[in-house]
Formats: sequence, structure tokens, C-alpha cells
Amino acid sequence: MQATTPAGLDRREAEIYHRLDPGRLPKHIAIIMDGNGRWARRRHMPRIAGHRAGVAAVRSTVETAARIHIPALTLYAFSEENWKKRPKSEVDFLMRLLSRYLRLEVPTLNANNIRLEYIGRQKELPESVQERMADAREATTKNTGMVLTLALNYSARTEIVDAFRALADAAARNGGLDHLHVDEATIGRHLYTKHLPDPDLVVRTSGEMRLSNFLLWQLAYAEIYVTPTLWPDFRGVHLLEGIAEYQKRERRYGGLNEDHSHHHAAKATRS
Ligand code: FPP
Repeated sequence: MQATTPAGLDRREAEIYHRLDPGRLPKHIAIIMDGNGRWARRRHMPRIAGHRAGVAAVRSTVETAARIHIPALTLYAFSEENWKKRPKSEVDFLMRLLSRYLRLEVPTLNANNIRLEYIGRQKELPESVQERMADAREATTKNTGMVLTLALNYSARTEIVDAFRALADAAARNGGLDHLHVDEATIGRHLYTKHLPDPDLVVRTSGEMRLSNFLLWQLAYAEIYVTPTLWPDFRGVHLLEGIAEYQKRERRYGGLNEDHSHHHAAKATRS
């Protein structure tokens, strides 16, 4: 029996969707959006033209993910390293592009029942951008569908540093180190991603095989899908292709997983 097609998918998306097991969709997908500069260079255009074109890819990917009811999508929009190592003119352009996106996109996010969140050191971003971010989050806070998290001025190592500091501060306020109990769950609760389950799938565009300081703790057991498609060319249909590939993989979490038939029902144990 064919599952019904979620509203809004185009024909190519629907074709791939019908080959998926709707019971085994990833609960959280994280995407490293890469290749904007190369996309522009191939067209003899300035790098910023690639970033501008990248917004269309963000729109398509976000809408398709929401339409097929992925509970959480996280996009690596701007790393701490990007901020420090790129020319000021490019950084300024990215900030303006982000502000514009946040201003224009709220109605679409609301129409798709998407709630906006952020990870990264927000306080280091320009104040005007922080205000836009707060407004957009506020405007979508009641939505109950997909959580869209934008990683802005994000670095996984900085996140871990901040978690250590938060843990130490909490200990100091609660009777000192003797009372500090640390396990994986404690650490998870002090990461920027405390509102999210760990990603099941991480997608990287433009063919690079690196994590580039993205969600290092959270991606411990994620399936990695690398596509040669450059980010500005990426669309919902490519996300579905990534999910199809994910569903072909056998997730073992360090175990043996001999029983394939119970694969998705069984709670995998970590080793
Ligand atoms: C990587 O391409 C992309 C970025 C650093 C910026 C990503 C930003 C967007 C897609 C648009 C704005 C975002 C939102 C959420 C509206 P690159 O410049 O590193 O490409 P290259 O490796 O080919 O040089």
C-alpha cells in the first residue's frame, strides 16, 4: 500500500518519498551548507552571489523537511571561523542576507508550523542581527511542527567550552565540586542543543569529507551523507535522496545488530 503524499511535494520529490519508509525518517537532520563560493566562481560571479543563491536552497530544503514532518532540522549557516577568517565585506553581506531572510521568512515559517531556534555565540553577532533573531524566534515560538535551528557564529569546541563553564558555575552555586555529578546526559543538558535530540543524519554539500567543527559531540552516531551538489543547487529533492541513502544504511551504534527485521523497532544499545 502506498502512503499518501504529503501536501506540497512536487512530482520528483513525491517519487522519492514513496520509496521511503515513513516510519524510519530521521528525527533530526543537520546540514553543512557548503559550496556557495564555488557555485559563484563557476559562473564568474562574486562569492556573495553564491550566498544569495544559497537562500533559495535554504527555503526549498526547509519547506520539504517540514512537509514530510522531519521533527528537527539544523543548518550550519555561519561558523565562528567564517566570522574571523573571511573579508569583512563578505561577512557584512552574510549578516544582511541573514537579517533579510529572518524578516521575510517568518510568514512562511508560520504557514509551515516551523519554530525557529539558534545555536552559537549570539552575543558576538551585530546587535541589529541579534534583535532580528529574537523577533523571528518570538514570532514562531508557538509553532508545534518542525524545529529549525540555525547555527550562527557556531563552533562545536566553543560549545563544549561553554558547557564546561556552565557546569563549573552550576557546581559553584550548588555546594561545590563534591556535589557535581557528570554523565553524558548532564553534558547534553549544558550544550546549545539541549532542545534537540542528536542528529541521525548529517548532510554535507559540495563533496567535502569534513565535519568542520560542527556538532562534534552530537554527531557521534550520525550517518554521514556527502553529496557533490553545491549548496545553491541543493533542493528538497536532494534532501529526500539523502534520506533514501540513510535508510539503506544499517545503524549499529557499536553493536552487532544481527536481527535486521527488528532493525527499526529495537532500541539500539550503545557500546
Ligand atoms: C558555505 O559556502 C556557505 C556559507 C559560509 C554561508 C551559508 C549561508 C547561506 C546559505 C545563506 C544565508 C543563510 C540563511 C540561513 C538564510 P562557501 O562560501 O564556504 O563556499 P566555498 O567553499 O565554495 O567557498
